Amino acid sequence: MISDFSQTLVIQEVSPRDGLQIEPIWVETVDKIALIDELSLAGFSRIEAGSFVSPKAVPALRDSEHVFQGITRQPGVVYVALVPNLKGAQRALAARADELNLVMSASQTHNLANLRMSCEGSFLAFGEVVESVRGTAVGLNATVATAFGCPFEGKIDADRVLGIVDGYLELGMHGITLADTTGMANPLQVERLVRRVLQRVPAARLTLHFHNTRGLGLCNVLAAFEAGARRFDASLGGLGGCPFAPGASGNICTEDLVNLCDEMGIHTGIELPLLLRLSRRLPALLGHELPGQVAKAGTPQHLYPVPQYVAGL
Ligand code: COA
Ligand code: ZN
Repeated sequence: MISDFSQTLVIQEVSPRDGLQIEPIWVETVDKIALIDELSLAGFSRIEAGSFVSPKAVPALRDSEHVFQGITRQPGVVYVALVPNLKGAQRALAARADELNLVMSASQTHNLANLRMSCEGSFLAFGEVVESVRGTAVGLNATVATAFGCPFEGKIDADRVLGIVDGYLELGMHGITLADTTGMANPLQVERLVRRVLQRVPAARLTLHFHNTRGLGLCNVLAAFEAGARRFDASLGGLGGCPFAPGASGNICTEDLVNLCDEMGIHTGIELPLLLRLSRRLPALLGHELPGQVAKAGTPQHLYPVPQYVAGL
């Protein structure tokens, strides 16, 4: 049972990064910029706008420099860049990212598949990144990917995740994200892990990143919310997925999450009609249907004309 509706749930929009990184077709830089500019007017306080990884690893986002340079930054919106190493951090700083999101997997195997380095190698790289931003205003967030399960190793021990969180905090990370990279989490597991992590990290600095791979995305949001989490990643249309995780599919869908919150009286500050308009344009941009459901069904306020035969009954 959700017992406290009186809170604000903060949504970080990740479609420009997690969403587009797995798309097989090339999305023009101007279209990425236009998407981010429109998302910037929808009420988000945080948008993950691109990633500074190897262009060979993720060709779809190889233009992130140009994207960051081309967007119209709205006051109050933090534009986040995903980075895997020092080179990525230097590129992101040059492109004036407001915050770096450093990513490493709890699973050694997925880290090797995704970043071609061990978890120990990632930690060393993150130490260099921390040094490189010292004295700047750039924020640091660190993600534990595959925190709830790995497509190669299976279940991930919660103590291992907590150990990584502690390591991140010791390195000086401000924000922490727990990511369910391939949608393996269940609500009970989420509630338990979130409660334990919140003993170390305040809710204002903890983000949950769920994928809806097995249909449990919004259930996991509610479980995390009930456990005290207040910040969530989500992606317009339910786009998204890690190209280096077999079976990966979309993030939880932003407009479906906003609809859930609107219906339950949880404040997000996001304008749902604007999101729906943006989401309904994605199939034309990407050449396929999207998993988001509210964009297809409309909000519950959308009513249909009564069939004529009913009037005659
Ligand atoms: N941005 C751009 N280029 C980078 C880079 C970065 N952040 N980091 C390394 N490179 C370049 C190197 O300069 C080198 O270029 P060269 O071949 O022209 O000399 C090349 O990539 C190989 O460098 P190396 O350090 O050996 O990298 P690698 O091949 O071991 O790959 C990563 C390591 C981390 C760069 C790569 O695996 C990666 O970018 N992964 C990201 C995957 C991802 O984004 N997943 C989804 C999000 S979680
Ligand atoms: Zn993801």
